[in-house]
Amino acid sequence: MAARSALINVMVRAAEKAAKGLVRDFGEVEHLQVSRKGPSDFVSNADLKAERILREELQKARPDFGFLMEESGASKGAEAGTRWIVDPLDGTTNFLHGLPHWAISIGLEKNGEIVAGVVYEPVHDQMFWAEKGAGAFLNHQRLRVSERRNLADSVIATGIPFKGRGDHAGFLGEAEAMMKEVAGIRRFGAASLDLAYVAAGRFDGYWERGLSPWDAAAGVLLVTEAGGFVGEIGGGRNPVFGGSILAANSHLHLPLAKILRSAAEGRKAPAPAGDAKA
Ligand code: IPD
Ligand code: CA
Ligand code: CA
Repeated sequence: MAARSALINVMVRAAEKAAKGLVRDFGEVEHLQVSRKGPSDFVSNADLKAERILREELQKARPDFGFLMEESGASKGAEAGTRWIVDPLDGTTNFLHGLPHWAISIGLEKNGEIVAGVVYEPVHDQMFWAEKGAGAFLNHQRLRVSERRNLADSVIATGIPFKGRGDHAGFLGEAEAMMKEVAGIRRFGAASLDLAYVAAGRFDGYWERGLSPWDAAAGVLLVTEAGGFVGEIGGGRNPVFGGSILAANSHLHLPLAKILRSAAEGRKAPAPAGDAKA
């Protein structure tokens, strides 16, 4: 049984409080599908309400910490270098479509390092949490990344670019290279939970480009505290702020990095002479 620190308790309580409203709203969203305006305004309100609750609760408990929040941006606190990095609703598209796979993500950054993280998935009451040096947990159970060594047995999560943003051709090249090697690729639609699932050994790896710090802050700590590896796709060491993530167990991290590199190199390589159009 894991004893949660006072800090983790603050984060867990804030997430639980914000989750109540989100769960209520999630129950409504189904009925709204038919309304004239559609449910998207309703969902963005749910999102804003959750962010307000998280800010209030976290501020009450730790008045000196700053914030970096998806909807309201950055604000400094009296304690320089310490801030909450928050996504009040990760997996908005799932939420909007009545798909029960979304979460609240709260990370705590101190002097550039993530020292605590909570990812709460309320529909199934899965509270993922980690504190630097103390391990990663799902509710009260200790988490370990998977032990799988063979790419051919592994299931890898990813995020697919959407609404015309990001590098679509680049993603297709990566997916093509990956699908030749692994047992399956999954796109579940909530980055914080993709990382939590790597920490829990459910996914053997995960890659995505174009992420924001609030998608990744808590989840990255979950993976490292569960014994996994996380970096940027090209090898950089700043997955929270660098914009891309490759997370995996220690056996698969390098092989997965190689597959993604081969996809990038394949795109750069000039077409063979015979392919040139006359
Ligand atoms: C999104 C989800 C999704 C990822 C997107 C994120 P949002 O966050 O995490 O899985 O592919 O890049 O923007 O918008 O639902 O908070
Ligand atoms: Ca997000
Ligand atoms: Ca969000």
